[in-house]
Amino acid sequence: MPRYAHVTGWGMAVPDKVLTNNEISHMVDTNDEWIVEMTGISERRIANDHETTASLATDAALKALELANLDPADVELIIVSTSSPEHIFPATACLVQDRIGARKAGAFDLSAACTGFIYALNMAAQAVRTGSVKNALVIGAETLSRLVNWKDRSTCILFGDGAGAFVLQPSDVPGGVLSAVMRSDGSGGDLLSLPAGGSRLPTTAATVANGLHYIHMNGREVFRFATRVMAQATQEAVQLAGHQMDDIKLIIPHQANRRIIESAARQLDISMERVVVNVGTYGNTSTASIPIATCEALQSGRLQSGDKIVFVGFGAGLTWGAAMVQWSGPILARRKRRLPRSYRAWAKARSFLIRLMRRIEGLIWGRLE
Ligand code: ACO
Repeated sequence: MPRYAHVTGWGMAVPDKVLTNNEISHMVDTNDEWIVEMTGISERRIANDHETTASLATDAALKALELANLDPADVELIIVSTSSPEHIFPATACLVQDRIGARKAGAFDLSAACTGFIYALNMAAQAVRTGSVKNALVIGAETLSRLVNWKDRSTCILFGDGAGAFVLQPSDVPGGVLSAVMRSDGSGGDLLSLPAGGSRLPTTAATVANGLHYIHMNGREVFRFATRVMAQATQEAVQLAGHQMDDIKLIIPHQANRRIIESAARQLDISMERVVVNVGTYGNTSTASIPIATCEALQSGRLQSGDKIVFVGFGAGLTWGAAMVQWSGPILARRKRRLPRSYRAWAKARSFLIRLMRRIEGLIWGRLE
């Protein structure tokens, strides 16, 4: 049984469309100075009409698979962490499975809001470590812009769209996901929620008229909660892995608010040079923020193979958690280089054929009855 689950591929996808604070100030009563001072956010990416949670997730996943040199047909597990799934069901993960042609993969969505990527990473790492799957694709993807009330200045300034993905593969070489802590406190569920559209409050004209299909948030309470748990979860993950804070090169936190991140750094007594912050350019992309920040840290050379890092996040639920990871980098197989992006067309053709076969079978069975 392999003892370690390594991150061997990664990728991110964000929409091209940029929405600046100044543009938002024409929509609601706010201004750039207030938003930057209170959140650190200057701009965020917003999905175009043709972009969805699954399309961003697919783009990020294919980049991660390419880096890991892994054929989509060999993927065994896909977890999509999201709070803005395409539907309540089917799972967005199944849509991604179909679009990349991962014909051997189990696929499911994981709902733990902004902490979701840490939960998903931990679940996938456990599955890889036990040998129950040979590899896993972990994706954090959101189009929260579709769930935000663009007339509510206390929430619409915060969120942005995007996706990030990691590939996990087993190895006996020490490293990869070394520890993880996952916590929750449902008594704070009402502090950040999307009240309608589920089984408790199905969508009706009244729920829509009352704006219950939008994100509702008690920002002040969420802020207090976040500043309480971020440092604590980081320390727990580091201790669980048998390490000390001095061993940690970088903290990659959930990107919700610059002030929350700075508060956590102060509590941990570490300089901001050891903390990755990109909330200024993407806003809060919820569960996608940690993998997106990781991809940018890799691109800029701040994160390199062998570095020990901590992912830490918090979100609706309430949920929070952290994971300590020793960064691996791609384990390039000796076999022919895979180009999973070229599989997109094959996956589309395959999906079309399967649907066609299903229709033909349905017609035949219909006649036999
Ligand atoms: N522009 C200008 N003024 C504003 C804006 C705005 N966009 N939003 C609120 N205000 C005003 C309020 O109306 C209020 O005015 P008043 O004093 O005249 O009534 C004043 O600013 C203070 O409002 P608060 O809501 O109390 O402001 P606060 O200091 O709490 O800051 C903020 C608001 C930035 C949203 C902060 O609470 C925050 O960042 N909280 C954390 C939110 C978060 O991280 N959520 C994501 C969690 S992750 C997930 O699961 C999705």
